[in-house]
Amino acid sequence: MEITKVGIESIPIIQHIAKITWAIAYQEIISNEQLVYMLDKMYSTESLQNQIQVQGHQFILANLENKPVGFASFNNKETTPEKRVKLHKIYVDPSQQAKGVGKSMLQFIMNDISKEGVKFLELNVNRENKAIGFYNKLGFTIIAEEDIPIGNGFFMNDYVMQISL
Ligand SMILES: CC(C)(COP(=O)(O)OP(=O)(O)OC[C@H]1O[C@@H](n2cnc3c(N)ncnc32)[C@H](O)[C@@H]1OP(=O)(O)O)[C@@H](O)C(=O)NCCC(=O)NCCS
Repeated sequence: MEITKVGIESIPIIQHIAKITWAIAYQEIISNEQLVYMLDKMYSTESLQNQIQVQGHQFILANLENKPVGFASFNNKETTPEKRVKLHKIYVDPSQQAKGVGKSMLQFIMNDISKEGVKFLELNVNRENKAIGFYNKLGFTIIAEEDIPIGNGFFMNDYVMQISL
C-alpha cells in the first residue's frame, strides 16, 4: 500500500470515493436529503478547494496496486497550548474496507503529526456510525457529545473522540 499527501489535483478522486462510500455508510443514519446536502457542502469542487487552499487541510490518498482506494484529511486545530490536530475525514472504498487501509492512513497521520510535537488527534463521528468500533480499536476514546447545526434544519449528532500521541 502506498500513502501520499495530495492537493487540489486529486479532488475528482476524493469526490468519487466520497460518493460511493457515503451512500453506504450513512444510508441508515441520515436521510437522503441530508446526505445530498452534506456531500455538496463538504465535497463540491469549490468546498474542497477552500479546505485545501484556504483552511489548510492536508489530504492523503491510499493506493492499493496503484488504484486509489481511500482518503483522509486533517489540520492543526490548535497549535498552543494543547497541540491538538483535528482529523476531518477518513473514508475507504466499500469494496476495499477491512484490508487495513483505514488503519494505515491513521498511522501515517499520527506519525506525521507526532514529528511536529502534536499531542492529541481528535475527530467527530456520528453517534450511530459503526466507525466508532474502528476508532476504539485504534485507541481513541469518547470525550464529548455534540449536536452541530449545519444549515437547512439538519444536525450532525456526533461524539468527539480523541487519542493521545
Ligand atoms: C471506518 C473505516 C475508515 C475503517 O477503514 P478500514 O480500512 O475498513 O479498516 P481497517 O481494515 O484498517 O481496520 C483496522 C482495525 O479496525 C477494526 N475495525 C474496522 N472497522 C471496525 C468496526 N466497524 N468495528 C470494530 N472494529 C473495526 C478491524 O477489524 C481492524 O482490526 P485489526 O487491526 O485487529 O485487524 C472504513 O471502514 C470506512 O470508510 N467506513 C465508512 C465511512 C466512515 O464511516 N468513515 C468514518 C467517518 S467519521
